[in-house]
Amino acid sequence: MTRNTPSARTVFRFVAVVAGALVLASCSEAPLDTLGPDLAGPEARDIGWFMTWMLWICYGVFFAVLGITLYSWRKFRIKTDEYEEGDWPEQIHGNTTAELAWTAAPAITLAVVAVFTLGLHASLNSNDENAIELIVGDEQVAWEPEVVVIGQQWWWEYQYHFGDVDLVAQRVENLPTTGPIITTATQMVIPVGEEVELEVTSRDVIHSYWIPSLNGKRDAVPGRQSAPWKLQADEPGVYFGQCTEFCGLSHARMRMQVIALPMAEFQDWVTSQMQGVALGDADQAYVDALVAGETPAPENSMQRGIATFRSKCASCHLMDNVADDLFSPEEVRKQLVAGVAPNLTHFSSRTTFAGGIRNVYDPETLEFNANELRIWLQDPSAVKANYVEPASDGDVRMRGMPNLGLSQIEIDDLVGLLESAGEKPSEQIIRETGVE
Ligand code: CUA
Repeated sequence: MTRNTPSARTVFRFVAVVAGALVLASCSEAPLDTLGPDLAGPEARDIGWFMTWMLWICYGVFFAVLGITLYSWRKFRIKTDEYEEGDWPEQIHGNTTAELAWTAAPAITLAVVAVFTLGLHASLNSNDENAIELIVGDEQVAWEPEVVVIGQQWWWEYQYHFGDVDLVAQRVENLPTTGPIITTATQMVIPVGEEVELEVTSRDVIHSYWIPSLNGKRDAVPGRQSAPWKLQADEPGVYFGQCTEFCGLSHARMRMQVIALPMAEFQDWVTSQMQGVALGDADQAYVDALVAGETPAPENSMQRGIATFRSKCASCHLMDNVADDLFSPEEVRKQLVAGVAPNLTHFSSRTTFAGGIRNVYDPETLEFNANELRIWLQDPSAVKANYVEPASDGDVRMRGMPNLGLSQIEIDDLVGLLESAGEKPSEQIIRETGVE
């Protein structure tokens, strides 16, 4: 034995460690599980069912081959040490029956598997025609549920288009669209029991969208729009997911959730998402004056927050009715590698932020998590690894949120503004969406 050959003991230890790790891994709670038991939509169930039957077929093949091998070994072995020429079992090389059998059996098995594979493939890659009646703004629309899903380092954006728009370039590059639109981040809200078509794409690198209890994965590829993909939830509830294509520094912190609401609550959500930030009269007058080009002095924390937002946040983030007049997609694209930052108009209608790794509300007390936000605004990259690089034109290019060097007062003012941006979700949703 040479020194480099692992001893039997080493091999045994290695196998023991791997086996132990597998056993321990099975003890962990696995909320992201393709095989159930929490499959909550028709697509996920189809995939689970298909996997299970594929496994049974594999078991069948495995045990059949193993059985024939063991049987042959036992039946045809030579039983004594002293044997003569004629003791060899009969050689059947070229036996037509045997050759046909072991050609036909795998061919039939694979054909059966192929029929089911192609059937599932076709059904997963198709979309139903289903339209739901919604009031959007002041108009009644028949909306075929469709959400544009855009991956970006390191969060997910969702766009709901209620008007006429079909160009992927418009969506990816965030050009102005015609017709009403809802733009949100991290949490996708869908109506329960309806098939929601997804158009998955990316602004920078390849990501992958995956809500395992509702459907399989779909890659988000820059410049491309996915083939039809979809989600459907049987029951109202919250379904968790995680980016599953390695996409850089904070890949592991690129989470998402789908919230399925009963139709009436979904309509309420749409109605509230169509509105800008609701301000009191004095604060609205302050914004109106700023938009008109005047320079009024802020008189309270909210107005200071608005001023700070407009001077420091609005170069990347949009907030309707607070700073939408300043938001410039061109400027954002210049600064951000991926080219857009989450729309904050309805920040507090969502329950997670920073790519879904922090809670906007405390899931226990249900209170607005001002402290979490303060920590984030103080130094975002301490919460979630972000990346700033100098560009050749002397500017910087950012992936994720940079440290803006905000003062404590600025942070407190901004936290107050963010709290009033959007409607607080139901207590049940706050509880169910809480992340660790
Ligand atoms: Cu996005 Cu991994």
